[in-house]
Amino acid sequence: MDSSSPTLLKVENLSKKFLIKKSLLKKEYFTAVDNVNFCLNQNEILGVVGESGSGKSTIGKLILKLIKKDSGKIEFEGKDIYQLSRKEEKEFRRKTSVVFQDPRTSLNPRLKIKQIVEEPLIVHDFPKEERKKLVVQTIKDAGLDETFLDRYPSELSGGQRQRVAIARAIVLKPKMIVADEPTSALDVSIQLQIINLINNLKQKFGISFLFISHDLNVVGMLADRIMVIYRGKIMEKGNARDILKNPLHPYTKLLLASLPPDHPSKRKKLEQVVEVYREETENGCVFYSRCPIAEDICKTKPEYKKSDNREVYCHFA
Ligand SMILES: Nc1ncnc2c1ncn2[C@@H]1O[C@H](COP(=O)(O)OP(=O)(O)OP(=O)(O)O)[C@@H](O)[C@H]1O
Ligand SMILES: [Mg+2]
Repeated sequence: MDSSSPTLLKVENLSKKFLIKKSLLKKEYFTAVDNVNFCLNQNEILGVVGESGSGKSTIGKLILKLIKKDSGKIEFEGKDIYQLSRKEEKEFRRKTSVVFQDPRTSLNPRLKIKQIVEEPLIVHDFPKEERKKLVVQTIKDAGLDETFLDRYPSELSGGQRQRVAIARAIVLKPKMIVADEPTSALDVSIQLQIINLINNLKQKFGISFLFISHDLNVVGMLADRIMVIYRGKIMEKGNARDILKNPLHPYTKLLLASLPPDHPSKRKKLEQVVEVYREETENGCVFYSRCPIAEDICKTKPEYKKSDNREVYCHFA
């Protein structure tokens, strides 16, 4: 059901740099993902939270093999996803899928809903009769009825479109879905519906989700475990409830303190957490320049401190 279930995905020392500038003499790289380690268990929702540009989507794309890793290891069902045979590669594609933030751009506007949902079944050679049956069943699983099948994406509301994107993502009964900010383009009441839908899909089909969001509030409603990312590095990782109740990393505390005051997971003592700005340190903690509690020791790199299902990247944890 949660962190005690068997491992589906195992990520070790994963790193990714992007080339940002190239001249005759020099190439400049930006480290988007920096030595990241985590597991996603069967039937589990792992929330990935962090501010814009922290590398969340890059992690999602790496584990789906949509972009190439630089180094590290990614195992899905015990197999290195860079060592798959052609048959295994196709199987991997069938067992993994993605839901993006904005269904306006992720759904082909020229196709009817039934064609959009059917497409992955065609790619994976399902016979026509079975495809028809599965499309009808899946649109219902996503909380819409058959009358939507003959419509076009432009004839749907934002929430309905996201349900179609989810139907497409689940039609092959995948084991793992990367949901990259799936609720961020929706208003709050619709957000809740999509969150409930994702939770139901986890319960009903045992699908595991890597649920990416910049919003700790949203992640807190859904995730079994959370990892907090800052500049491509995991700052804190642990059970969602524990992290929301008792954040240990100063960056997690900052994220929690920035939630609206009426949110239940906001604790009064966190209101004092104030962000600071100081000069970067080249060889120290990545969070040094903004950390409210940094001292000289933080000019050296911290180790991950591990205890009771929690890992924290901080000298003072
Ligand atoms: N193809 C690319 N080429 C160069 N830089 C890239 C590329 N993709 C991502 N980056 C950079 O890597 C960093 C991490 O990007 P990423 O999209 O993973 O962040 P994010 O956490 O998903 O942000 P957001 O919340 O805004 O979606 C950013 O600084 C981004 O500019
Ligand atoms: Mg992103």
